[in-house]
Amino acid sequence: MAQRAIIKPHAVGWGRESLPFGEKSFFLPPDVVKFYNRNRTFVIQNRRFPMDFYDVLAKRQSVRIYKPDPVPGEVLNRVLEAFRCAPSWANTQAWELILVTDLEIKKQLQQTVSDKNPSYSAIIDAPLLVCAVGITGSSGYYKGQQATKRGDWVMFDMGIAVEHLVLAAAAEGLGTVHVGLFDYEKASHVLGLPSDRTVIELIPLGYAAYEPRRVPRKPLNDFVFKNGYGKK
Ligand SMILES: Cc1cc2nc3c(=O)[nH]c(=O)nc-3n(C[C@H](O)[C@H](O)[C@H](O)COP(=O)(O)O)c2cc1C
Repeated sequence: MAQRAIIKPHAVGWGRESLPFGEKSFFLPPDVVKFYNRNRTFVIQNRRFPMDFYDVLAKRQSVRIYKPDPVPGEVLNRVLEAFRCAPSWANTQAWELILVTDLEIKKQLQQTVSDKNPSYSAIIDAPLLVCAVGITGSSGYYKGQQATKRGDWVMFDMGIAVEHLVLAAAAEGLGTVHVGLFDYEKASHVLGLPSDRTVIELIPLGYAAYEPRRVPRKPLNDFVFKNGYGKK
């Protein structure tokens, strides 16, 4: 079982940080992750004590306002490794990532997103914009023929891999948001993709500038059935 530590603020002593307690700020080391766990307990955790998987799930929420602070290289590398180890149809790995930090390119990509999209500003404000590129016509195909009536499975594979990235980011104390509502043809053009590739998602990545509001979910009882549709 992963070792975990819930540390009282006064027990910690490196790097200045402001906290949601409303009173004193205190010092934290740079490799410390702070978050509310699923019991709404504020947890301070060092990377040497990996976060409980279920706490990572609870901690991940869409972040739409970012601090400008860059993502440290070694942290980014771990997050990208999490993407890399994702499963895919027959291990096709029909994916590529384009990491955008250039403001001009971010601005062009923002033009592919409606200004009514709640993540419109995040496209520019997050220090890093991850563009998830899918290679079409390989996942879900066998010898060039569709293996299932569903056709291309690249969207499915990419969903899994991007969520790996998103959860790893949450474990690292980083925020992300999946952005799927954009003009993917224009975005593919901005990034100069060949015709067999398409931008599937844009994922702003960086440190959250606020504590996001938790979005409710349907209760299990509404959608889990036993031995047939609608059977409880
Ligand atoms: C495939 C996909 C596409 C999404 N596209 C957008 C988007 O274009 N803009 C946005 O602000 N949020 C987008 N979201 C985020 C969802 O709105 C968000 O996950 C949902 O409301 C639940 O909130 P939570 O992530 O904070 O739990 C997308 C999420 C997914 C999974």
